[in-house]
Amino acid sequence: MNEVQYDDTGKINLNGIYNMPDPVAYFSTLSGLDYQIPQLARPLFDRIIGARRETSGEQQLRMIDLGCSYGVNAALLKHGLSMADLFRLYDEGAGREDLLDRDRTVFDAPADPCLEIVGLDTAEQAVGYAVAAGALDAGIAANLERRDPTPDEAALVEGADLVISTGCFGYATDVSLRRLLEASGDSRPWMAHFVLRMFAFDEAREMLAGHGYVTEKVDGLHPQRRFASDDERIHVLDNLARLGIDPTGAEAEGWYVAELYVARPQEDERSLALDRIVGVH
Ligand SMILES: C[S@@+](CC[C@H](N)C(=O)[O-])C[C@H]1O[C@@H](n2cnc3c(N)ncnc32)[C@H](O)[C@@H]1O
Repeated sequence: MNEVQYDDTGKINLNGIYNMPDPVAYFSTLSGLDYQIPQLARPLFDRIIGARRETSGEQQLRMIDLGCSYGVNAALLKHGLSMADLFRLYDEGAGREDLLDRDRTVFDAPADPCLEIVGLDTAEQAVGYAVAAGALDAGIAANLERRDPTPDEAALVEGADLVISTGCFGYATDVSLRRLLEASGDSRPWMAHFVLRMFAFDEAREMLAGHGYVTEKVDGLHPQRRFASDDERIHVLDNLARLGIDPTGAEAEGWYVAELYVARPQEDERSLALDRIVGVH
C-alpha cells in the first residue's frame, strides 16, 4: 500500500473502489480490511424495521439506504444474504455483464418482498449496478450535500418509513438527512445511522430536533473495519484524542468503531421506548 492517500478525517481514500462498473474491487478490498458493519447492523436494523411496521400497522415499508453502494444493506436485509456471501460472490471479476446475469438470479426472490429499498449514493455506477441486479428496488445517484433532490428523486423518497446508513455518515451529514426528511413529505421516517465515533452527530441531532425528532444513541460499540495501515491508525487516534474520546479497548485494538444513533418523531419516542426495540439498556 505505497500510494495510500488519506482524506481530511485521516481515513484512507477509498474513492477508487466506490464507483466501479461492478462490485468486485469494492468487496475484495473491504474483505481484506474485515469490513463488517452491515453484518453487525443487520439484527438491529431488523428490530427497527419490525418496530416501524408495528407502529404503522403495515408490512409494506419503504426504506432509504443513504450511501447504499452496490446495495449492501439491501442484500442483507431484503435478500437474506450475509457479508460472507457477498465476499464470496464478488471474490473475482467475471466482468459486469456476466456478474449481472448471475445476480439477477441471486436477487429474484427476496426474503422480505414487502421491504422496498431505495438506495442513494454519489457513486452512479454502484447504484446503477444494484438496481440492474435487482438488489435495490430503485436508486438515486446524487450528492445531497450539494443540492436538493430533483422532483423525480424526491418522488422516490416521498412516503419513506425509515432512513438508514452504514459507513456513510461523515461523507454525508445532517445536510443530506435534512433534504431526505423534507423530501419524505408527511411520512415522518425513523432514522438509524451507524456513525464512526470520530464523527459528531450533534448537528444532525439539532436539525432533527427542529423537525420534532428525538435522537437516542444506542449503548454498544460496533467494530466497522480494521485500520488499513499504521498511518491510518495514527491519524484516527489523533482525531479521537482531539475529540477527547478514549480509544482504550476500542480503536486502540486496531478497528474503526461505530455507534448507532436512532431518531424518531417525539410521539413515537414517547409511545415506544428504544430499549424495547433494540433490546439493550
Ligand atoms: C464505506 S462505503 C459504505 C457503503 C455501504 N453502506 C456499506 O456499508 O457497505 C461509503 C459509501 O458512501 C458513499 N458516499 C460518499 N459520499 C456520499 C454522499 N455525499 N452521499 C451519499 N453517499 C456518499 C460512497 O460512494 C460509498 O458508497
